Amino acid sequence: MVRSYGWFAAPGVAPGGGAAVEGDLRPELADVGRLARRGLRAVIGAARAGERPQLSRILSDHLGAGAGAHDVVEETWPGYDHVNVQAGLDAWLADPRRTWELVGIANFQHTMFGLGDLFADEGRHHPMGLRPGNPATVNVACGPDGEVRPCQRCGIYLVVEGEVRTTMLVRGASPEFGNERVSLQIVSSDPAAAPRVATEIRAAALEHNVFRGQVLSFGQEVFGHRQTLLRFHRRPVLTADQLILRPETLAEVQRQVVEVARHKGRLLAAGQHLKRGLLLYGPPGTGKTHTVRYLTSSLVGTTVLQLTGNAMHLVAEACSVARALQPAMLVIEDVDLIAEDRGMHPGRHPLLFQLLNEMDGLAEDADVVFVLTTNRADLLEPALAARPGRVDQAVVLDLPDTDARRALFELYRGSLRVDTSGLDDVLARTEGVTASFLKELLRRAALLAATRTPEGEELAVSAGDLGAALDELLDTRNAMTRTLLGSAG
Ligand SMILES: Nc1ncnc2c1ncn2[C@@H]1O[C@H](COP(=O)(O)OP(=O)(O)OP(=O)(O)O)[C@@H](O)[C@H]1O
Ligand SMILES: [Mg+2]
Repeated sequence: MVRSYGWFAAPGVAPGGGAAVEGDLRPELADVGRLARRGLRAVIGAARAGERPQLSRILSDHLGAGAGAHDVVEETWPGYDHVNVQAGLDAWLADPRRTWELVGIANFQHTMFGLGDLFADEGRHHPMGLRPGNPATVNVACGPDGEVRPCQRCGIYLVVEGEVRTTMLVRGASPEFGNERVSLQIVSSDPAAAPRVATEIRAAALEHNVFRGQVLSFGQEVFGHRQTLLRFHRRPVLTADQLILRPETLAEVQRQVVEVARHKGRLLAAGQHLKRGLLLYGPPGTGKTHTVRYLTSSLVGTTVLQLTGNAMHLVAEACSVARALQPAMLVIEDVDLIAEDRGMHPGRHPLLFQLLNEMDGLAEDADVVFVLTTNRADLLEPALAARPGRVDQAVVLDLPDTDARRALFELYRGSLRVDTSGLDDVLARTEGVTASFLKELLRRAALLAATRTPEGEELAVSAGDLGAALDELLDTRNAMTRTLLGSAG
């Protein structure tokens, strides 16, 4: 393989004039490969003629005369797929049957053009100021911990595979020109090869898709061109004992999400569908988001896509990513927000219906689970009832009963020393509170203990601390409730 990133590393200086290139003319390079020899000859020939090589010249030298008349085959992807297109390209180019070079293009930023325009550049100066330049890359996120992959913003790959020579112009999205897609334009010396290359690279981009198996959220750029953004998140680590649910509730959730995935092969063989929808509903603070985090944590290897508030309209896009990267879990939290969004048509829920339609449109054997959460099931009910079959299971997350509150108390107490002599009383007084209330109770009690305990002494929460913290919290809660109900006085 030949990789020559530095062909035109110094635009403005005629290549071939420098010592490095003089050195390159020595015979030991004679066996680098036909491509490199041809390329160098083109560059040096142009330099000796006192000219910079033109893009049209590079293309016709590579493809041979007449190739400019062949069809340009184009593939495009959404802008956020740039990194996957590059991953696919890199993998495709890495095949040992292929040798390649990369040519950058100067001044590409200000112009929209295609391979056809570059072939047409007959004169000495391209009308758009396009000329060979440095490859321009942009680092694009490819993992949750700041991993990036350099992606070509605009470049031409000159590829040789046996007798076939191919030229590919890759270009990232340029939303400032209203172009929101990544494009790849392909011309081959053998016209039949270009569509094949296009298909292979599309397949490679899918195979090497860096989103697969990751936890991602769909969002939209707030400023600028409102491009769709996919953000990576670190997969949460949550063990089963950190999620306190009634055993039967947890079992229902597990069966629907995890067990179906686990027995996928056998279920499919038995003609059963894999696509499934789960609705988690219950009052705020009962653990809907927490349960989603737990599922995300246990489904290692599953692509998790989260649709956030400002990206609800991207539901079709999210579904298509989920379909492509299955097994996948598509999470839409607070789905009542989209049910409430009646858009232009009073009395209808276009976004919610769109979501339900997308769920419906997915193939039955797609290993995609939709997890919806809401604390306003009443708002969703009519829509879901009107379109049965989308959500296979609705699981209510109740306020914790005494046993659950005891378990939550133990969980959030962690390693903290607590005098539990008054615990039964605390549990009785916390009837009707949420899990997050109990978490906060322990934090406050620990804080009271900390203010009482001299520095250096181990923290120990007394029964008094616990009682005082509970009084405070219940007071706050009542005051809030009174205010919210408008009866504060
Ligand atoms: N069942 C639970 N088991 C353990 N911890 C819980 C549970 N429910 C809630 N918590 C704790 O309370 C916090 C808040 O809960 P969570 O965000 O899951 O509530 P929610 O049901 O999603 O509420 P909302 O309707 O406001 O979105 C969690 O981060 C977690 O620490
Ligand atoms: Mg939540």
